[in-house]
Amino acid sequence: MSTHRTRLIAALDTPSYEQAAHWSAALEDSVDAIKLGLEFTYACGLDAVQKLSASQKLFLDLKLHDIPNTVASGLRALTPIQPVLTTIHALGGAEMIARSRAVLEEEFAEATQRPKLLAVTVLTSMNEQALSDIGINATPLEEVVRLGRMAINAGADGLVCSAHEITALRDALGDKPELIVPGIRPAGSQTDDQKRVMTPGQAAKAGADWIVVGRPITRAANPAQTARDIQEELQAAS
Ligand code: C5P
Repeated sequence: MSTHRTRLIAALDTPSYEQAAHWSAALEDSVDAIKLGLEFTYACGLDAVQKLSASQKLFLDLKLHDIPNTVASGLRALTPIQPVLTTIHALGGAEMIARSRAVLEEEFAEATQRPKLLAVTVLTSMNEQALSDIGINATPLEEVVRLGRMAINAGADGLVCSAHEITALRDALGDKPELIVPGIRPAGSQTDDQKRVMTPGQAAKAGADWIVVGRPITRAANPAQTARDIQEELQAAS
Protein backbone atom coordinates (compact mmCIF):
# COMPACT_ATOMS: atom_id res chain seq x y z
CA MET A 1 0.00 0.00 0.00
CA SER A 2 1.34 3.45 -0.85
CA THR A 3 2.10 5.80 2.03
CA HIS A 4 1.62 9.14 0.32
CA ARG A 5 -1.34 10.99 -1.09
CA THR A 6 -1.79 10.80 -4.83
CA ARG A 7 -2.89 14.20 -6.12
CA LEU A 8 -5.46 14.91 -8.83
CA ILE A 9 -4.86 17.06 -11.91
CA ALA A 10 -7.77 17.95 -14.21
CA ALA A 11 -6.74 18.21 -17.87
CA LEU A 12 -8.65 21.16 -19.34
CA ASP A 13 -8.37 20.33 -23.04
CA THR A 14 -10.20 23.09 -24.88
CA PRO A 15 -9.36 25.98 -27.20
CA SER A 16 -11.88 28.21 -25.36
CA TYR A 17 -10.79 30.55 -22.56
CA GLU A 18 -14.35 30.84 -21.26
CA GLN A 19 -14.71 27.06 -21.06
CA ALA A 20 -11.38 26.55 -19.32
CA ALA A 21 -12.08 29.40 -16.87
CA HIS A 22 -15.50 27.90 -16.12
CA TRP A 23 -14.04 24.44 -15.41
CA SER A 24 -11.18 25.88 -13.42
CA ALA A 25 -13.52 27.86 -11.15
CA ALA A 26 -15.90 24.93 -10.75
CA LEU A 27 -13.02 22.65 -9.76
CA GLU A 28 -11.22 25.09 -7.51
CA ASP A 29 -11.79 23.14 -4.29
CA SER A 30 -11.84 19.63 -5.71
CA VAL A 31 -8.62 19.20 -7.72
CA ASP A 32 -4.99 19.78 -6.74
CA ALA A 33 -3.99 21.34 -10.08
CA ILE A 34 -5.18 21.95 -13.62
CA LYS A 35 -3.30 20.92 -16.77
CA LEU A 36 -3.14 23.22 -19.78
CA GLY A 37 -1.42 22.01 -22.90
CA LEU A 38 -0.75 22.84 -26.51
CA GLU A 39 -4.37 23.29 -27.57
CA PHE A 40 -5.26 25.89 -24.94
CA THR A 41 -1.91 27.65 -25.05
CA TYR A 42 -1.79 28.03 -28.83
CA ALA A 43 -5.47 29.01 -29.04
CA CYS A 44 -5.60 31.46 -26.13
CA GLY A 45 -2.01 32.58 -25.56
CA LEU A 46 0.26 32.73 -22.56
CA ASP A 47 -1.58 35.65 -20.94
CA ALA A 48 -4.65 33.43 -20.70
CA VAL A 49 -2.54 30.61 -19.22
CA GLN A 50 -1.15 33.03 -16.65
CA LYS A 51 -4.62 34.29 -15.73
CA LEU A 52 -5.83 30.77 -14.99
CA SER A 53 -2.69 29.93 -13.03
CA ALA A 54 -3.48 32.77 -10.63
CA SER A 55 -6.25 30.74 -8.98
CA GLN A 56 -5.16 27.10 -9.50
CA LYS A 57 -1.85 25.27 -9.37
CA LEU A 58 -0.80 24.69 -12.95
CA PHE A 59 0.70 21.76 -14.83
CA LEU A 60 1.92 23.44 -18.02
CA ASP A 61 2.27 20.60 -20.51
CA LEU A 62 4.07 22.00 -23.55
CA LYS A 63 6.49 19.07 -24.10
CA LEU A 64 9.44 21.19 -25.22
CA HIS A 65 11.94 19.49 -27.57
CA ASP A 66 14.72 21.40 -29.35
CA ILE A 67 18.43 22.06 -28.98
CA PRO A 68 19.48 22.60 -25.33
CA ASN A 69 19.89 26.37 -25.61
CA THR A 70 16.47 26.87 -27.22
CA VAL A 71 14.61 24.71 -24.70
CA ALA A 72 16.39 26.34 -21.75
CA SER A 73 15.60 29.81 -23.12
CA GLY A 74 12.00 28.81 -23.75
CA LEU A 75 11.66 27.64 -20.15
CA ARG A 76 13.21 30.88 -18.92
CA ALA A 77 10.58 32.81 -20.90
CA LEU A 78 7.83 30.75 -19.23
CA THR A 79 8.97 31.43 -15.67
CA PRO A 80 6.52 34.33 -15.00
CA ILE A 81 3.73 31.77 -15.28
CA GLN A 82 5.15 29.77 -12.35
CA PRO A 83 3.71 26.35 -13.12
CA VAL A 84 4.17 23.68 -10.45
CA LEU A 85 4.94 21.08 -13.12
CA THR A 86 6.19 21.48 -16.69
CA THR A 87 7.26 19.05 -19.43
CA ILE A 88 10.10 18.49 -21.87
CA HIS A 89 10.82 15.48 -24.11
CA ALA A 90 13.45 13.05 -22.79
CA LEU A 91 14.43 12.36 -26.42
CA GLY A 92 16.03 15.83 -26.48
CA GLY A 93 18.89 14.23 -24.55
CA ALA A 94 20.82 14.64 -21.30
CA GLU A 95 22.28 18.06 -22.06
CA MET A 96 18.88 19.51 -22.95
CA ILE A 97 17.47 18.18 -19.67
CA ALA A 98 20.42 19.36 -17.57
CA ARG A 99 20.31 22.88 -19.07
CA SER A 100 16.55 23.01 -18.46
CA ARG A 101 16.99 22.06 -14.80
CA ALA A 102 19.78 24.62 -14.41
CA VAL A 103 17.58 27.42 -15.77
CA LEU A 104 14.75 26.54 -13.38
CA GLU A 105 17.18 26.40 -10.41
CA GLU A 106 18.54 29.79 -11.42
CA GLU A 107 15.21 31.51 -12.07
CA PHE A 108 13.61 30.20 -8.88
CA ALA A 109 16.66 30.48 -6.60
CA GLU A 110 14.85 32.96 -4.35
CA ALA A 111 11.42 31.33 -4.53
CA THR A 112 10.01 28.89 -1.97
CA GLN A 113 9.18 26.43 -4.76
CA ARG A 114 10.47 25.95 -8.27
CA PRO A 115 8.52 24.21 -11.05
CA LYS A 116 9.20 20.48 -11.18
CA LEU A 117 10.77 19.43 -14.47
CA LEU A 118 9.07 16.39 -15.98
CA ALA A 119 10.35 14.35 -18.89
CA VAL A 120 8.06 12.64 -21.37
CA THR A 121 9.66 9.35 -22.46
CA VAL A 122 7.80 7.32 -25.10
CA LEU A 123 4.44 8.72 -26.22
CA THR A 124 1.72 6.22 -25.40
CA SER A 125 0.55 6.49 -29.01
CA MET A 126 3.73 4.62 -30.07
CA ASN A 127 3.95 0.84 -30.13
CA GLU A 128 6.95 -1.41 -30.82
CA GLN A 129 6.49 -1.05 -34.60
CA ALA A 130 6.34 2.74 -34.40
CA LEU A 131 9.55 2.72 -32.33
CA SER A 132 11.23 0.44 -34.87
CA ASP A 133 10.17 2.82 -37.66
CA ILE A 134 12.19 5.60 -36.00
CA GLY A 135 15.19 3.34 -35.43
CA ILE A 136 14.57 2.27 -31.84
CA ASN A 137 14.71 -1.49 -31.46
CA ALA A 138 13.17 -1.99 -28.05
CA THR A 139 9.75 -2.53 -26.56
CA PRO A 140 8.01 0.64 -25.39
CA LEU A 141 8.51 -0.41 -21.75
CA GLU A 142 12.26 -1.03 -22.22
CA GLU A 143 12.60 2.34 -23.88
CA VAL A 144 10.53 4.11 -21.19
CA VAL A 145 12.84 2.74 -18.47
CA ARG A 146 16.02 3.55 -20.43
CA LEU A 147 14.94 7.12 -21.26
CA GLY A 148 13.49 7.57 -17.79
CA ARG A 149 16.78 6.62 -16.13
CA MET A 150 18.72 8.95 -18.43
CA ALA A 151 16.28 11.81 -17.79
CA ILE A 152 16.34 11.47 -14.00
CA ASN A 153 20.14 11.18 -13.97
CA ALA A 154 20.35 14.31 -16.14
CA GLY A 155 18.21 16.37 -13.74
CA ALA A 156 14.53 15.75 -14.42
CA ASP A 157 12.46 15.71 -11.21
CA GLY A 158 10.03 13.20 -12.61
CA LEU A 159 8.39 11.52 -15.55
CA VAL A 160 5.04 11.46 -17.27
CA CYS A 161 4.19 7.79 -17.68
CA SER A 162 1.38 5.33 -18.22
CA ALA A 163 -0.04 3.62 -15.15
CA HIS A 164 1.23 0.34 -16.58
CA GLU A 165 4.80 1.66 -16.45
CA ILE A 166 4.81 2.74 -12.79
CA THR A 167 6.02 -0.55 -11.31
CA ALA A 168 8.91 -0.94 -13.76
CA LEU A 169 9.95 2.69 -13.22
CA ARG A 170 9.78 2.39 -9.41
CA ASP A 171 11.86 -0.82 -9.59
CA ALA A 172 14.46 0.90 -11.77
CA LEU A 173 14.50 4.38 -10.23
CA GLY A 174 13.13 4.11 -6.70
CA ASP A 175 10.59 6.32 -4.93
CA LYS A 176 12.15 9.73 -5.50
CA PRO A 177 11.13 10.62 -9.10
CA GLU A 178 7.68 12.19 -9.30
CA LEU A 179 5.46 10.05 -11.51
CA ILE A 180 2.60 11.84 -13.26
CA VAL A 181 0.08 9.47 -14.78
CA PRO A 182 -2.59 10.13 -17.45
CA GLY A 183 -4.80 7.46 -19.01
CA ILE A 184 -6.96 7.18 -15.88
CA ARG A 185 -10.61 6.18 -15.93
CA PRO A 186 -12.87 5.80 -12.89
CA ALA A 187 -14.54 2.37 -12.91
CA GLY A 188 -17.50 2.34 -15.29
CA SER A 189 -16.58 5.47 -17.26
CA GLN A 190 -15.94 5.59 -21.02
CA THR A 191 -12.37 4.84 -22.08
CA ASP A 192 -12.57 7.26 -25.09
CA ASP A 193 -9.36 6.88 -27.13
CA GLN A 194 -7.29 5.67 -24.16
CA LYS A 195 -6.30 2.06 -24.75
CA ARG A 196 -4.80 0.79 -21.51
CA VAL A 197 -6.45 2.54 -18.60
CA MET A 198 -6.32 2.16 -14.82
CA THR A 199 -8.71 3.43 -12.18
CA PRO A 200 -7.61 6.23 -9.84
CA GLY A 201 -7.34 3.76 -6.95
CA GLN A 202 -5.21 1.32 -8.96
CA ALA A 203 -2.84 4.09 -10.06
CA ALA A 204 -2.54 5.35 -6.48
CA LYS A 205 -1.74 1.86 -5.21
CA ALA A 206 0.83 1.39 -7.97
CA GLY A 207 2.64 4.53 -6.72
CA ALA A 208 1.52 7.50 -8.86
CA ASP A 209 2.31 10.89 -7.31
CA TRP A 210 -0.20 12.69 -9.49
CA ILE A 211 -2.94 11.40 -11.79
CA VAL A 212 -4.19 13.38 -14.79
CA VAL A 213 -7.89 13.05 -15.61
CA GLY A 214 -9.49 14.92 -18.49
CA ARG A 215 -12.77 13.94 -20.12
CA PRO A 216 -14.23 11.91 -17.23
CA ILE A 217 -14.23 15.19 -15.27
CA THR A 218 -14.82 17.80 -17.98
CA ARG A 219 -17.65 15.86 -19.63
CA ALA A 220 -19.37 14.94 -16.37
CA ALA A 221 -22.77 16.43 -15.57
CA ASN A 222 -21.20 17.65 -12.32
CA PRO A 223 -17.41 17.98 -12.77
CA ALA A 224 -16.76 19.05 -9.16
CA GLN A 225 -18.64 16.06 -7.76
CA THR A 226 -16.80 13.69 -10.11
CA ALA A 227 -13.48 15.18 -8.98
CA ARG A 228 -14.48 14.80 -5.32
CA ASP A 229 -15.41 11.15 -5.94
CA ILE A 230 -11.99 10.57 -7.51
CA GLN A 231 -10.30 12.26 -4.52
CA GLU A 232 -12.16 9.92 -2.18
CA GLU A 233 -11.03 6.93 -4.19
CA LEU A 234 -7.43 8.20 -4.05
CA GLN A 235 -7.65 8.70 -0.31
CA ALA A 236 -9.07 5.24 0.22
CA ALA A 237 -6.19 3.73 -1.75
CA SER A 238 -3.41 5.50 0.20
O1 C5P B 1 -9.43 13.05 -21.36
P1 C5P B 1 -8.28 12.22 -20.86
O2 C5P B 1 -8.42 11.81 -19.39
O3 C5P B 1 -7.97 11.04 -21.75
O4 C5P B 1 -7.04 13.23 -20.91
C1 C5P B 1 -5.76 12.85 -20.54
C2 C5P B 1 -4.82 14.00 -20.71
O5 C5P B 1 -3.50 13.53 -20.53
C3 C5P B 1 -4.87 14.65 -22.09
O6 C5P B 1 -4.55 16.03 -21.91
C4 C5P B 1 -3.78 13.94 -22.84
O7 C5P B 1 -3.22 14.72 -23.86
C5 C5P B 1 -2.76 13.71 -21.73
N1 C5P B 1 -1.83 12.60 -21.97
C6 C5P B 1 -2.26 11.30 -22.18
N2 C5P B 1 -1.34 10.31 -22.38
C7 C5P B 1 -0.05 10.60 -22.38
C8 C5P B 1 0.40 11.88 -22.15
C9 C5P B 1 -0.54 12.89 -21.96
O8 C5P B 1 -3.43 11.03 -22.17
N3 C5P B 1 0.82 9.62 -22.53
